[in-house]
Formats: sequence, structure tokens, C-alpha cells
Amino acid sequence: MTIALKIEDLHASIGDIEILKGLDLEVPFGEVHAIMGPNGSGKSTLCHVLTGSPDYEVSGSAKLAGEELLDKDVTERSIMGLIQGFQYPTEVPGVRLYEFLVEAGSERGMDRSTIEGRIKTEAARFDMTDFLNRSLNDDLSGGEKKRSEIFQAAVLGPRVALLDEIDSGLDIDAVKQVAEAVEEMRSPEIATLMITHYSRILRYLTPDRIHVMLDGKIVESGGAELAEELEDGGYDAIRDRLGIPTQSEEETTKKPSDFYTDLPF
Ligand SMILES: Nc1ncnc2c1ncn2[C@@H]1O[C@H](COP(=O)(O)OP(=O)(O)OP(=O)(O)O)[C@@H](O)[C@H]1O
Ligand SMILES: [Mg+2]
Repeated sequence: MTIALKIEDLHASIGDIEILKGLDLEVPFGEVHAIMGPNGSGKSTLCHVLTGSPDYEVSGSAKLAGEELLDKDVTERSIMGLIQGFQYPTEVPGVRLYEFLVEAGSERGMDRSTIEGRIKTEAARFDMTDFLNRSLNDDLSGGEKKRSEIFQAAVLGPRVALLDEIDSGLDIDAVKQVAEAVEEMRSPEIATLMITHYSRILRYLTPDRIHVMLDGKIVESGGAELAEELEDGGYDAIRDRLGIPTQSEEETTKKPSDFYTDLPF
């Protein structure tokens, strides 16, 4: 089992605010992993930091197939095979999905006939042919956007695919379609890390592992039973079991002076 993505002691902050606080995670090739975590726990930050957003001060390590990602720029990371769908330059109006993919493919060193062939095959597989001539800035519905995101990743042939908010705002049929698209992309050469808020998508796809993220760290990893525990007891059930104070407990044990240390009284 080769590890596609190996994250060790990852910290990320913006100014004085530390968002990722020593995160560890491993995703082997061929597997689909899901991260679940409450609002604000740092899931999107993890995606931004991995893809190379310049907004964060970062320390620790994140390796793709053994090679450090964190010292590479955004394009180098993408060439190494880290793909987050829908990363297109929004400031370029009128770019069609087709042109965008040809451009993105050539940036990653694919020749034109290869990329055109892949677009055709994958568009048929993901039922995206009708969308190829639409502008990237056209309004797509939530479900279409997510399908397009997975289709784009599949065309560009990721080694690690990051899919944030995979099922947010989707109706039940679209959730099913997106789940099928994730399963469709599964291959021994690809590791997928998807972020979801709801266990309902897990009715249609079975991640190899589920990770729970609380306050900037992965605190628990397991199988489908973890999603069931979350469904029944919410994140407090996990906090209780692991002895992590809930947000409200933490607040009530703090005195005002813990917050206002600089005040002159
Ligand atoms: N630019 C920023 N400046 C200050 N704080 C930020 C910034 N970006 C994110 N944060 C904070 O970092 C924390 C983590 O945000 P993030 O978007 O990663 O959470 P998330 O787990 O993706 O949440 P959600 O489930 O709501 O999408 C939040 O408290 C957020 O307010
Ligand atoms: Mg988020």
C-alpha cells in the first residue's frame, strides 16, 4: 500500500490565528477518504494550504508520493498531481470549460491530442458533453458544479484529488450522482480526499476511511461506524468519548480575565 498523501504535524495560521494545529493524515493510493468536522474546524483551510494558497503561514510536512508539497508553488503542486476541482482563473471571462481543460492539461505537460482524447472519454463517462461549450462563468446548478469539478479532476488525471464541500446544497438525486462520480474516478493510481458535512452521501459511496476534524486536527479515524456515531450524537459524542471539552464547556471554565488580559482592571 503506497501512501499518496502523507501529512505530518501540519500547522497553518493567518496572523495570530492558528487554524491547523498539528494535523496528521495519510491517504493511500486507490482509496477514498472523507473528512467530517464542524463549521470552522479548518477543513477548507486544509485544502487551501495543500494547494498552495499564499495566505497562510505554514509549517510541518505534506508529501505527495513521498515528495514534499509545501515548498512548491501552486503550478508545481498541480503538475505533481494534486488537483482541486474548479481551480480556474475566475477573472478570465468567457472561457469555455473545453478551452480551460486544454489549457490546464498543457500546463501539466499533456500534449493536445492526449488532452482532447481524455476530455472526450471523460465527458462521456461523467455525462458532461453538453457542458464543454459553456463558459466557466456560466451559472451551473450546485449539482452540476460538483459533477463538473470531479469531471475536471478526472480529465487532468490527479494523483491526489481534493473535493471540498462535496455534497453541500445538493438535492438527494444530485448527492447520489456526485457519489457515483467519486466512485467512478476511483483507481489504483488516485487517492481522493473528500470533505462532507453529511453522512447521507455515505449511503451511496463507501469511503475506505472517515476522519473527524475538530479544532484544526484529525482527532479520530475509522470506518462507517464513525459516521453513524456522528449522525446519532453529533460532534459532542466524539468530544465526550475522547475527553475533549465542548465549546460551551470550554467557555464556562474560562474567566473573563482569560480573555481580557490587557485590560487595566
Ligand atoms: N482569512 C482568514 N482570516 C482569519 N480567520 C480565518 C481566515 N480564513 C479562515 N479563518 C478561520 O479559520 C477557521 C477555519 O475555517 P475553515 O474555512 O477552514 O473551516 P471549515 O472547517 O472549512 O468550515 P465549514 O464547515 O464552515 O466550511 C474559521 O474559524 C475561520 O473563521
Ligand atoms: Mg469549509
